[in-house]
Amino acid sequence: MKITVTGAGYVGLVTSVCLAELGHQVITTDIQKEKIEMLQNGISPIYEPGLPSLLEKNLGNGRLRFTMDPDLAYSDAEIIFIAVGTPETDNGSIDLKYLYVAAFTIAHHIENDVVICTKSTVPVGTNDIIHQIINSRKPDNILAEVVSNPEFLREGSAVYDFFHGDRIVIGTNNPEAANIMEQLYLPLKIPILKTDLKSAEMIKYASNAFLATKISFINEIASICEKVGANIEEVAYGMGSDKRIGFPFLQAGIGFGGSCLPKDTNALLQLTGCNEQRFELLEAVMKVNRRQHSLPIVKAKELLGPLQNKKAALLGLAYKPDTDDVRESTSLIIAKELLEEGAYVTAYDPVATPNFQKMMGNSISYASDIPSALHGADFAIIATEWDQIKHVPLDVFSTNMKRPIIIDGRNCYSLQEVQKYPITYISVGRPAIDQKGQIIKDGSLF
Ligand code: UDX
Repeated sequence: MKITVTGAGYVGLVTSVCLAELGHQVITTDIQKEKIEMLQNGISPIYEPGLPSLLEKNLGNGRLRFTMDPDLAYSDAEIIFIAVGTPETDNGSIDLKYLYVAAFTIAHHIENDVVICTKSTVPVGTNDIIHQIINSRKPDNILAEVVSNPEFLREGSAVYDFFHGDRIVIGTNNPEAANIMEQLYLPLKIPILKTDLKSAEMIKYASNAFLATKISFINEIASICEKVGANIEEVAYGMGSDKRIGFPFLQAGIGFGGSCLPKDTNALLQLTGCNEQRFELLEAVMKVNRRQHSLPIVKAKELLGPLQNKKAALLGLAYKPDTDDVRESTSLIIAKELLEEGAYVTAYDPVATPNFQKMMGNSISYASDIPSALHGADFAIIATEWDQIKHVPLDVFSTNMKRPIIIDGRNCYSLQEVQKYPITYISVGRPAIDQKGQIIKDGSLF
């Protein structure tokens, strides 16, 4: 099929490359010249495992092209995916300007019957507006149907997820458009769920809000575990063994970040507010998440007193491993709070440092390896569970730090392993360990 993808961000780029890999002719367009030029030269603007090789292969075989020319992009397309950004505004609602601009541009340039498929996460009812925009501006002799096809890719495993997703949701009020989309996805052999436009839009929000709820729930249980001397890892394993609960998203830590979970949960809260309903459960989910973000600072202060002039090593800047994305990363909040407390911060991340530096400038220092980040530090905070961080031998901490205190926000190390080293270790929902290797269950470490 001839496919056009509007927007070369995480979702648009992964979708483009993977559809080309499936054998389709794909043109990807974006308003950012620099991005399009990089992609035309085979350079991925994002770090995503598996993406560079598929990009190179499909550029090479001619199935994948990049352009800024809307005529080339839209005139001949059979399916157009809209995957532009839908950023959060200050009040938690969604800014749809890029989406509407894309819809106007598409309407003015299509020359054949086409299915226009929204991948961007949008408030319920947005696709009806897109339909109106397209219908009011397209040539009369052309049929243009609108489909909502929400995206469930996770950054860091997006290419794998494209080929191995749990379900594909196709929302449209037009059966013919649904069939065209079904044909496109059939080779993936992933269950396809056909539904109406609004239900598809809601599935995306409800799914991400539920995942966020699962994380905040386990983080609340982790807090109680710390108080009563239980271990959250044992508890999560026991809970997850029940098939009705399941293991995924029961990893306690310093909260969720990224471009989707916080934004989509806030947007659902906005939506319920606009419909004169309160979603008190989700309000609590966000409140718990904010509390988790500040946990490392609270624990550091309990242990060390005022952080003024103390040296902190911050390990992990991306909002999760295997990505260079720092949007809504807990590390941004931690770094800002440490600076407010008057601490000096040296940060390390295997790939996300340039993006973090764009947000934080040189208000903190950046190290190119972990020993340098730890050198002379009074305490270390582990904020992202990169393999490169969680496999660091613990003597690297004890030999490089001024005071070997680890606040592990992602439970990277087993307690038994930590006990072998002269390290004070505080994690999330598990007993603390003092420098003599004693397990402290009653909070007396603080
Ligand atoms: C999420 C959804 O999973 C995906 O379906 C949707 O398309 C986009 O949003 P993503 O943001 O890439 O994907 O990351 P995800 O793996 O869901 O993690 C989100 C955040 O939750 C990360 O900050 C992660 O550290 C945190 N998390 C995740 C936990 O704290 N505990 C867990 O058990 C799982």
